[in-house]
Amino acid sequence: MNKIAIVGAGRVGETSAQILAEEELCREIALLDVREDVPEGVALDIYQTAPFFEFDCRLTGSSDPRILKDAELVVITAGFPRKPGMSRSDVLEANVRIIDEVTDHILHYAPEAMVLVVSNPVDALTYRVAQRTGWPRERVFGQAGVLDASRMASFIAQETGFSVRDITTLVLGGHGDTMVPVSRFCTIHGIPLSHFVSQERIAAINERTRTGGAEILALRKSSSAYDAPGAAVATMVDAIARNRRRVLPCVAMLEGEYGEADIAMGVPCILSGRGMEAVVELDLNDAERADFARSVSAVRTDIERLRAIV
Ligand code: LAC
Repeated sequence: MNKIAIVGAGRVGETSAQILAEEELCREIALLDVREDVPEGVALDIYQTAPFFEFDCRLTGSSDPRILKDAELVVITAGFPRKPGMSRSDVLEANVRIIDEVTDHILHYAPEAMVLVVSNPVDALTYRVAQRTGWPRERVFGQAGVLDASRMASFIAQETGFSVRDITTLVLGGHGDTMVPVSRFCTIHGIPLSHFVSQERIAAINERTRTGGAEILALRKSSSAYDAPGAAVATMVDAIARNRRRVLPCVAMLEGEYGEADIAMGVPCILSGRGMEAVVELDLNDAERADFARSVSAVRTDIERLRAIV
């Protein structure tokens, strides 16, 4: 890729930019933030790590949206983070206004771009960007499941002592307390998780995964998570920039898959140079389907609140 833009030079935006630069996933990273001077400072600071990491990726920052011009991919991290005790949905009203403004800038300056939404509540905001742009779902998708699955994998590694390299996890649904860790599809080098871990411990891991973001927020106090979220963004960008056709959970607009339409939420997808190439539909069992339906209702509640904001 030539140019990637990151909107929001906060902690998630900064961490993402650092990894994208180190991995040389593009030639240029443009950071946009409404705060004056801050994006320039972040870009300069990261660029000054180039001699250490030996990357040929230029970084620029600005509070002028023209910096988005000709970006092939725009990652939206801008928005108010939640405070301890708040849910991701509690920042919906504040963040939808930011997202709408950013979307209009993208429509104007980068009309051919793909958009990766990271700001919360990510499912509803991905839906909002899809609606406002009218673009095909291949080009508008969100990050949630890659992070949630990495949290689950880290908990399984702690529980079992096995290498994270061998652990594959899957989390579906909305990025909130109703997310659906699907342990039936979790393996340790292809061996079902249940071979090594009791149902009781799996239930505890599922619960810790569902509240993984809140756990970090409660511990950090003044900040949501950003190291793992930044790495999750970079993983998705890598799949796109290197056209890997990875199978990763993404927030995708559903068009009949899982019996749902007119909603964006987390499902396994094929992510490639073309963007969100396809949704992978799984044959869920009754319990998983019930959990998924609960998550659908939670995301639909947020989407209904969105509709009231014009
Ligand atoms: C989390 C927030 C950032 O999961 O959504 O950490």
